[in-house]
Amino acid sequence: MYHYKDNSLFCEDTEISDLVNTYGTPLYVYSKNILKDNYARISNAFSHLGAKVCFSVKSNSNISILNILYKEGAYFDIVSGGELFRLLNIGVKGDRIIFSGVGKTESEIRKGIKANILYFNIESEDELNLINKIAIDLNMHVNITIRVNPNVDAGTHKHITTGTQENKFGLSVGQAYNIALKTADLYGITLDGFHCHIGSQITSTTPYLKAVKNLIRLSNKLKNKIPIKSINIGGGFGVPYGNENTPIPDISEFSNQLEPLLLNNDLQLFIEPGRYISATSGILLSELLYIKKSRNKNFAIIDAGMNDLMRPALYNSFHKITTVSKKIDSEEICIYDIVGPVCESSDCFGKNRKLKKLTKGDYIVIMNAGAYCASLSNNYNSRLKPAEVLVSRNNHALIRKKETIDDILSMERIVDL
Ligand SMILES: Cc1ncc(COP(=O)(O)O)c(C=O)c1O
Repeated sequence: MYHYKDNSLFCEDTEISDLVNTYGTPLYVYSKNILKDNYARISNAFSHLGAKVCFSVKSNSNISILNILYKEGAYFDIVSGGELFRLLNIGVKGDRIIFSGVGKTESEIRKGIKANILYFNIESEDELNLINKIAIDLNMHVNITIRVNPNVDAGTHKHITTGTQENKFGLSVGQAYNIALKTADLYGITLDGFHCHIGSQITSTTPYLKAVKNLIRLSNKLKNKIPIKSINIGGGFGVPYGNENTPIPDISEFSNQLEPLLLNNDLQLFIEPGRYISATSGILLSELLYIKKSRNKNFAIIDAGMNDLMRPALYNSFHKITTVSKKIDSEEICIYDIVGPVCESSDCFGKNRKLKKLTKGDYIVIMNAGAYCASLSNNYNSRLKPAEVLVSRNNHALIRKKETIDDILSMERIVDL
């Protein structure tokens, strides 16, 4: 849905240069119909397995995005009281929400229980005992799943690998087995099943299949002692970021490969895709401020910084970069480092990118910026978080105002002790 018409970039039927003129830069833009298509593709691919698709709110937590997916039938995976509040605020019912995270506070657990969420995905025995105690205090009953760390290397960047013993997430298979048995004595809670999330931007189905086999083996081992109703295989499904040497698994083929593993087990399947649904729907627009040449580099300095979109600085991740106006074929090709204004050398969106010669005032597009981009933005260098706009065909609307310096300063006090 992002395409050029007469050398000008469009999102659906909306010309991007109109958005730049209306809202300024830096600016996040999301295509509603890409979001819906991505959701439909993954939920159709898993429908023959009866899977419940839980959108991972951390990937993009804007309430308009959440609202669209809720209307499409999504469930949600959350990791904080703040994410819970966002969902309740737009009218999402608790029975569409599951709550993960290694460090849930007592207050977050209370809020989750009172909201009647579907289940807590517990990550330690201490947390299990606390949830049980609070449930009994509140005279309520709570479903839980146990997050298992299946010790499978997802073969992804080390900062987004989560399923090996080096990582803080989940419990080993042995611990999970013992804790599952203990749940029989805790009358505030019921064990629903097992969960794992082995990492993000995974491009092969092999590690998933290994992890699922581990979960099923664990469920079967417990079968005669305690009934296991569900397994949750997390998210992590890779998306194309524009460096096409990484193969992206076909999601239907993946669900077909899972089918024989799940067939005789009568387990409700949950999946928690974030990036798969939101990444390709979004772009970040930015104005080219200066071209600066050093002895062996051309720096294209843009008005977006690592505070607006920190994936390249944080994970060294690749985003395709292009321009709003398609340059004409005859234009010279130059090699640029595309950098932001933040005072860090890691404030770089792409090194040695070949682009048609840029000139001051060009608008730069960072593609596939719908996941872990706006939701990770921050105020470093006292920079203001960008506005966000939703596009549907030829309609567009602001879904987050650009911050003002007053917004930031309103949190601070002058105190001299
Ligand atoms: C428990 C859990 N589920 C789901 C996700 C979503 O991952 P992705 O956006 O890669 O699909 C994450 C991401 O970190 C996660 O920690």
